[in-house]
Amino acid sequence: MEDVIKVGLIGCGNVGGGVVKILLENAENIALRAGCRIELAKVVVRNMDKQRPYEVAGYLLGTDALALVNDPSIDVIVETIGGENPARELIMTALRNGKHVVTANKEVIAKHGSEFLQIAREHGVNLYYEAAVAGGIPIIHGLKNSLAANNISKIVGIMNGTTNYILTKMYQEGAEFATVLAEAQKLGFAEADPSDDIEGDDVAYKLSILAGIAFNSSFKYEDIYFEGIEGISAREIEVARKLGFVIKLVAIGQAHADGRVELRVHPVMMDEWHPLAGVNNVFNAVFIEGSYVGQTMFYGPGAGMCPTASAVVGDVMDIAMHRKLGVSHPSIHTNFQKKEVVPIGEIQSEYYFRLSVTDKPGVLAAIAHACGEAMVSIKSVEQKQSKGEAAEVIIITHTVRESAMQKALAAIRKLDTVSAVHALIRVGL
Ligand code: HSE
Repeated sequence: MEDVIKVGLIGCGNVGGGVVKILLENAENIALRAGCRIELAKVVVRNMDKQRPYEVAGYLLGTDALALVNDPSIDVIVETIGGENPARELIMTALRNGKHVVTANKEVIAKHGSEFLQIAREHGVNLYYEAAVAGGIPIIHGLKNSLAANNISKIVGIMNGTTNYILTKMYQEGAEFATVLAEAQKLGFAEADPSDDIEGDDVAYKLSILAGIAFNSSFKYEDIYFEGIEGISAREIEVARKLGFVIKLVAIGQAHADGRVELRVHPVMMDEWHPLAGVNNVFNAVFIEGSYVGQTMFYGPGAGMCPTASAVVGDVMDIAMHRKLGVSHPSIHTNFQKKEVVPIGEIQSEYYFRLSVTDKPGVLAAIAHACGEAMVSIKSVEQKQSKGEAAEVIIITHTVRESAMQKALAAIRKLDTVSAVHALIRVGL
């Protein structure tokens, strides 16, 4: 009898539609490589009448996700609905019912991944989530397998296409954030509600997943410090460009000698020659430093229907291949060590900040005094756009502790002669 794996798909939006497209369009090649036929047995959607990105035969469609995860004829559940609930319950039920699960859902994995892995181990099945981080870039597999022999010292990722598109356009066109965001929404490059993307949550989810694998631990998403790009103005981009920097929203994971790990998400001014500075538009990239591999960078589409779906289907094929060989494929993410996250106040960086000040004697001295009192050493000061009594001051510090920088800034904010602190951006990677 022909060997078949039956897939139940939950969600048929952008990513789910891509999964249907690839499974149907490339069925022959997929069967050849996987060693068995991968049959799309059922597709559960919320609204049967909705127009879908890829047409699904009516007899495959249903609306009962709970019935699907309890259906004994289904081998693999593919979850593409996103969000924490009801995805969490559906995944847990599927795993408890002895089904492998493939998901593209970074939020549910970031929040409940450890719990899922425990249930999966208890029931002899596996959980796959390559598509949850950087869509079409095989970074999970790369870290879990090909780079597993390395001690990873650092990961830096551009892992959000929406914000990278906005920052690229701001850099290229000199436009303001709100204008570019509105344009991106019109073109379909940003969600109608883009808050998770632009406020940094999306990248924090992805960093907690990647860091867990890279640093062999399990990190809570809530322990990751994150900032978005709402505070980046056209002026910041312009000043950065003149200084030879590009501003990108990055996720940073860095191992400390004391065993703790630095995890943070925020905009960074990076040198324009850094490999990540050339990653533009909706593309993603992850830069890794490993003890044996040295520096390596993964680059590609971080989102989109087919790139993300190709990662999902790749995971389903992995399940099929392991089943064919009669071997289970327990995650190597099992013997993880407890590691603490370094509080943001303890990180060290150079900082850029821009102030509007009154242009009169003693103003710079007062700012320098506030920095000195907080042990913040200034690397460069530039006064620009002096108009009448108002001036713009741009300061870059030497490498200092974040807590010292925040202390200096709090004192600077209190100065009568400082009318605005426009931005504080960390400099360098
Ligand atoms: N919304 C994400 C992005 C893609 O803009 O990159 C899915 O994680």
